[in-house]
Parts: sequence; C-alpha cells; structure tokens
Amino acid sequence: MNTTFLSPGSTSAPLPRIAVLATGGTIAGTASDAAQTAGYQAGVVGVEQLMAAVPAVSGVARIEAEQIASIDSKDLDPRLWTVLSQRIEALAARDDINGIVVTHGTDTLEETAYLLHLVVKTSKPVVLTAAMRPASALSADGPMNLLGAVTLAATRAAWGQGVFVAFNNRIHSARDVVKTSTYAVDAFQSPEVGALGWVQDGRVEFQRGVVRPHTGATPFSAALGWPAVEIIPSYAGVSRIAVDAAIAAGVRGIVVAGTGNGSIHGTLQVALAEAVQRGISVVRASRVGSGHVIRNGAAPDDALGFVSAGTLNPYKARVLLMLALAAGINDRTLLQAAFDTY
Ligand code: SIN
Repeated sequence: MNTTFLSPGSTSAPLPRIAVLATGGTIAGTASDAAQTAGYQAGVVGVEQLMAAVPAVSGVARIEAEQIASIDSKDLDPRLWTVLSQRIEALAARDDINGIVVTHGTDTLEETAYLLHLVVKTSKPVVLTAAMRPASALSADGPMNLLGAVTLAATRAAWGQGVFVAFNNRIHSARDVVKTSTYAVDAFQSPEVGALGWVQDGRVEFQRGVVRPHTGATPFSAALGWPAVEIIPSYAGVSRIAVDAAIAAGVRGIVVAGTGNGSIHGTLQVALAEAVQRGISVVRASRVGSGHVIRNGAAPDDALGFVSAGTLNPYKARVLLMLALAAGINDRTLLQAAFDTY
C-alpha cells in the first residue's frame, strides 16, 4: 500500500464534525497530587473537561461530545458494548458526522476495540483512545492522544478500515492492538504485524491497510446478547477445577489460554475434551502474547473438537467466540472458519 500523508483540516471547507463518546478510564482520572501516576481514581473527569484540555482540537474538527459512561474499564460489562455500538451506529448514520472517537480505559481497550471492529456497521472511522496517566498528572498523555484520535477520525483516508486505536502517535488496527505495559506511556503495540501508521502534528500517515473483514462485512451484532464464555489458563500443575466449574455453570464456550504455542496441560486437556462432548465450544489460544496457534499443532484439534484461535489472544478470542455463538455459529467447522476469517 502507498504511504498516504493527509491533513484533515482545510482552509476553504468547513471542518469535519466528530462525535466524541466518553466512557471513563485513566484519561478521565484524577489523583490528589500531580506527581501521582499510580494511585488515582479513573473515570471521574467529564467529557467537556477532557475536550477543554485540548484547545488545538478546534483547528481540526467541530466536536459533538457525549458522556456514555464513567467507569474504570476493568469493570466493563458487555451490556455497555451494546449501548456503545448502537450509539456509534446512530451517530455514523448521520450525514453531518464524519467520524467517531471513543475515550476508554486502557485495561480492556483491546477487547472493546475488537468488539466494535466486528459489529459496528459503518465505513466511517471509529477511533478509540485512552491514557496511561490521569488527567491531573504532570505530562498527562491523554490530551495529545485525544488530539491524535480526533485528527484520525477526521481524515478521509481512514474510511473503510474499521476501528482504530490511536495511542502515543501510533495508529493501530483494533484487531491487532494489545496493551503490553502496566505503566509505560507507550503501552500499546500490535505484535508481529506492527502499527498501521502514525498520527502526529496534524498529519496522518498510513503504512499498510487492514486485510481481514470487519464492520459491515461481518454477520455479527452486539444486539444479540452475550453468551457465557470463560477464559481458563493452562499452567504448571493446573487442575481441572475451573473447567468442571464452568461446565456446571452452563457456559456456552471456553477459551483456553494455553502455554507456548497453545499447548494444554494433559489434565486440563482431558477436562476440555469432556466439555466439548457436553456441547461447549472450546477455543485454543496462547497466553504468550504474540505469535499464532496452529490448528492441530500443539493439540489434536480435529480429534478433540477444539477450535484454534490463530493470532487472537485469549481476550480477543473470547470476544469473537461470544459474537459467533450469539450469531448461532456453533458448528466446529464454521467456528474455525470464523476464527480463520475475522
Ligand atoms: C481503566 O482501564 O479504566 C483504568 C486504567 C487506564 O485507563 O489506564
């Protein structure tokens, strides 16, 4: 793909109109002391105050701001995904809205981003952003990240590429991005594949495009409910307690966060094979953090009825499994096809 350099603003045309939906997170956090970057309360600053901290936005876009929630994203309930995706679709359907920005906590950002990438039916840019330092901190990173997100959302070349995460000047695809650091300001990476490009000083530069289908090209919806899907890790000395509890609780799916290339402790593998026999969909991912899980590689998926998560980490694999089950995709072959496709 050719590199694209773009500036969203223009001196002659009216500035693009961007909707900013705030949900909380550290970007909206405050601490009692400006030097504090660990002990703070997330999700307390309102969206007007967030926007007021970024006066440069007025040179990029006309903003329509809304408070959707005020939470620490560790407490996110999938029902908020339904609300958020429906609000995004309603705004995107308006001719006068050019793009949408969502401010979010970093902790579950990658899950929400991938979820929206799979369900929102729009070709307009949807850009998530966040911060590692609270709004009250010295050198808070939120304002610059927000400016980058609005700049990207206002850029015509960003249409049709699904949902993005704009963070620390980088543009990531929602499918690829993961949080990789507990406190570093450069906390988001796209392992193996790298960022899509950069947004910096009013310029947007894409280095590659998005390959897999997303948004309007998927059969998924956030309106169909959230089937119970648990994530169970494999580790030295693991027992089958968690799998038995999940079966007893009536879950519809289990994502196993396997060791290495998605290998599973023998005890856990036996329990998971029994779960499959009881009609539970089992997806094999890896806890490693990068790389892919190959079908029939570290476990006999065909024989045991498992599905391989490919390049999705366990948290994103859970999002796709919930959406697929909600869409009525239970058959193992079709589930594997979904994981191979999206
Ligand atoms: C959160 O995820 O809401 C808190 C942590 C953060 O935003 O960095």
